[in-house]
Amino acid sequence: MASTRAADRTEHSSLQELGRRHLWMHFTRMSAYEDHEIPIITRGEGCYVYDQHGNRFLDGLSALFCVNIGHGRADVAQAGADQAKELGFFTNWSYAHPRAIELAARIADLAPGDLNRVFFTSGGSESVESAIKLARQYHKVTGHPNKTKIIAREIAYHGTSLGALTATGIPALREPFEPLTPGGTHVPNTNTFRMPHGLSAGDLADAVAHKIEFEGPDTVAAVIMEPVQNAGGCFTPPEGYWQRVREICDEHDVLLISDEVICAWGRLGEWFGAHRYDYLPDIITTAKGLTSAYAPMGAVIASDRLAEPFLHGDRSFAHGFTFAGHPICAAVALANIDVMEREGILGNVRAHEGEFRAMLDSLRDIPIVGDVRGAGYFQAIELVKDQDSNAQWTHEEAETLLRGFLSGELYRRGLICRADDRGDPVIQLSPPLIAGPEQFAEIEAVLRPVLVEAGERMHGRV
Ligand SMILES: Cc1ncc(COP(=O)(O)O)c(C=O)c1O
Repeated sequence: MASTRAADRTEHSSLQELGRRHLWMHFTRMSAYEDHEIPIITRGEGCYVYDQHGNRFLDGLSALFCVNIGHGRADVAQAGADQAKELGFFTNWSYAHPRAIELAARIADLAPGDLNRVFFTSGGSESVESAIKLARQYHKVTGHPNKTKIIAREIAYHGTSLGALTATGIPALREPFEPLTPGGTHVPNTNTFRMPHGLSAGDLADAVAHKIEFEGPDTVAAVIMEPVQNAGGCFTPPEGYWQRVREICDEHDVLLISDEVICAWGRLGEWFGAHRYDYLPDIITTAKGLTSAYAPMGAVIASDRLAEPFLHGDRSFAHGFTFAGHPICAAVALANIDVMEREGILGNVRAHEGEFRAMLDSLRDIPIVGDVRGAGYFQAIELVKDQDSNAQWTHEEAETLLRGFLSGELYRRGLICRADDRGDPVIQLSPPLIAGPEQFAEIEAVLRPVLVEAGERMHGRV
């Protein structure tokens, strides 16, 4: 039997060998593991995870911005198991089941304004893909069939499926798959640390208006942006930015999509990023923290205005995914939201975000720390070659800094965080939302010496 052979193989070969031979890891240079171990994480508890050797790590990235309530919650797992026994699966294509309905109503209750209609997906890319299709079909059915283009921001990551990728503004992720779905076009992001030449923070929202006018308002379906942009390192919006973008969208009948795959579910201390910055989008896309990743699930949350044309006659949103709204995932999401409410998870972020940020700001005396930015439990440190001039690293230097030293050394010392160079090199920290002063002190105890050493190495003093 195949399963017996697999079991035998597992017994006789190490997981490392099997992983190297069979597992295709995402966004991963597989060659990096020819002479290094694959980090194999075997269990988690609270803010910590453990590898196959029993080493403990502080999960300073919530397993890719996902595990908001922390690891190892038996009660949330139990909610999934109980649901599996009652009804393991039924689809949302023409049918419903209690958990999908309850969850949709719960999300509508928590979402801002009249965002009352919930279309489930299985993850972030599916949510963005669905939102783009919804925007296009909405304009078609309301008499504007040429409104198909999507405006997003440079360096923003909105997912990998071909539609979502057209919104993603990272050339290195787009180029291997050209030609993409047509219509994706980009404006400057809100990197106020490195403002584009000739622009001020106040101009950034107006760049959206210029882009719409340049493309032709009759051709633009939607603007998609994150409340705080992840890729590039936690770019927060300048004062009034979102309100101005909302006005611009209204002027041109362009839909506003708030991509909250990361920024919802307490990450910024609120249920949604739109609450934190006080704006009302037409659509919110979300995933990750919706279930704290105890099961894969995402959602598109649409306003009543947007859903309205789809509620009559023979019209439907011609789109769906078999697993979306899966009852086990919906039960897990409900249990996750219960935990967030019962245990005051959002309140914990609000209470401690200042302390978290102060700890990171205290690292500014290290010569390669150029900027510290972010909101809530979603923060980044930009690393510069020279603190006085904020000089940027060359591509080769960034490789040496991040992949040659920082990523490995931080992990070796027990801290999982993100050393990223999709824009300028940054370290990103986004711990579970149950973290507090004890974890901040641990993060600092690792980050400080490692960043000091990184600077010395890069400047040839080690
Ligand atoms: C803002 C944003 N949108 C979309 C996605 C894609 O989500 P997924 O990886 O679940 O497909 C991500 C993933 O990190 C994201 O951060």
